[in-house]
Amino acid sequence: MKFGTEIVSGHEFRDHFGSHIPPIYVSAVYEYIDIGEGLAVYTDRGTYVRYGREENPTVRALERVLSKIEMGGDALVFNSGMAAELALFLHFIKPGSRVIVPYEVYSSTLLLLEKLSEKMNFKLIKVWPSARSIVESYNENTSMIFLEVMTNPTLKVIDLLEVCGEIGGKTLIVVDNTFTTPILLKPLKHCANIVVHSLTKYIAGHNDVVGGALISKTLNIIDLWDWRRITGGIIQAFEAYLILRGLKTLEVRFEKQSKTALEIAEFLSEHHGVEEVYYPGLTSSPYHSVADKLFERKLYGGVVAFKVKGGYSRAVGFLKKLKVIKRAPSLGGTESLAVLPAKAGSMFIPEEARLKLGITENLVRLSVGLEDPEDLKEDLDQALK
Ligand SMILES: Cc1ncc(COP(=O)(O)O)c(C=O)c1O
Repeated sequence: MKFGTEIVSGHEFRDHFGSHIPPIYVSAVYEYIDIGEGLAVYTDRGTYVRYGREENPTVRALERVLSKIEMGGDALVFNSGMAAELALFLHFIKPGSRVIVPYEVYSSTLLLLEKLSEKMNFKLIKVWPSARSIVESYNENTSMIFLEVMTNPTLKVIDLLEVCGEIGGKTLIVVDNTFTTPILLKPLKHCANIVVHSLTKYIAGHNDVVGGALISKTLNIIDLWDWRRITGGIIQAFEAYLILRGLKTLEVRFEKQSKTALEIAEFLSEHHGVEEVYYPGLTSSPYHSVADKLFERKLYGGVVAFKVKGGYSRAVGFLKKLKVIKRAPSLGGTESLAVLPAKAGSMFIPEEARLKLGITENLVRLSVGLEDPEDLKEDLDQALK
C-alpha cells in the first residue's frame, strides 16, 4: 500500500466493536490466561503482556504502523528518542570495539555515547559528517556506525548510498531518520540495520508529546525488547495514542512545512540582515544534488538554519523580537520554533568542532510550522530589521 494509506490504517487494530481507532489501554496489569507456566497473553510478535512495563496494546498498534512506513520487520516504541538510543547502545555496542559517529548529530546522542564509552569500554570515533569520513574510519573492529543523514543543525546531507556501497553489511549501521522521515528516506531499504526516531518531532508533529522508536528489518527485536522491559523505557498508552493520531497527518504536514521552508530559505538568502543560509533545497547548497539523489521526493524538510549578520548579540536581539515564531527547542511540530544551537541543542559538541561545522553563536535554527508563510516571512523580516 502507498504511504498515505498506511499512515492512517497501518495499525491494523480490530476489536469486536469494529473500532477504527485503537483504544487507550490504561491497564497496568493483565490477567494470565490460566495459572501456570507460560500462560501470559502474547502479542503478535511473541512478547508477553502481563504488566504495563512489558507491553501495551495501544503501543503495539503504533509499532505496527511505524514498522510498515519504514519498511521494517518490527518496531519498539519508547518514552523518548533518548530512551530508544540507550537500549540500542546497551544491546549492540561491544566492549573493546569502536563506534563511529559524525560529530554533528543531536548533541545528547553524542553525550550519551561519550558517557557510555567510559563505562562500557569502547572507543568512540567522531568524524566529519560525510560518507567519505565514515568509510575511511571503518575497520573490522567497528561494532556500530550511527548517523543522521540530514545533520542537525546545519543540514549537511550524508550520502547513505556511498556508505552502503562501501561498507554496507560489514557492520551495524544505524540511521536516525528524525529529520528526513520515511517520506524522504527509508534507510532500511538501503543498508541500514536499525532506524531510530525521535517521535517527538515530525511523526507526532504537534509539540505535545515525547517519544522514540527503534525499527529493524531483520534483527531480532526481542533482544531489544528485553532491554526496554528491564530498563522501563516503554511509552505510556495516552502518549502512544497521541503519536498515532499525529502520524495520520504526517504527509500533509511535512509537505507544507517543506514548501514553506524552501520559500523562507529563498527569502532569507536575499535578506540584507542575513549572512548565510543552510538549506539543502536551495540550488546553491553544496548538498542539493546529493539530497536529490537520496530523497524520494523533491522536498527537503521543515528546518532552515541561518546566520544573523552582526554576531551573537544581534542574533539574541532577533530572537527577542519574534512575535509569531516561538523561542523554543525541538522541531517538526505545528508551531514554528527558533533556537540558537550553539547555546541549546549543539552545546555538547566541542567548540572547535562546532565552529568547523558552522555552528557559530549567531546561527539560528528555525523549525517551520504550519502557519501562513507570509506571516512567518513578515515576522522574520521585522525581527531582522
Ligand atoms: C535528531 C534527533 N534524534 C534524537 C533526539 C532525541 O529525542 P527525544 O528528545 O525524543 O528524546 C532528538 C531530540 O531533539 C533529535 O533531534
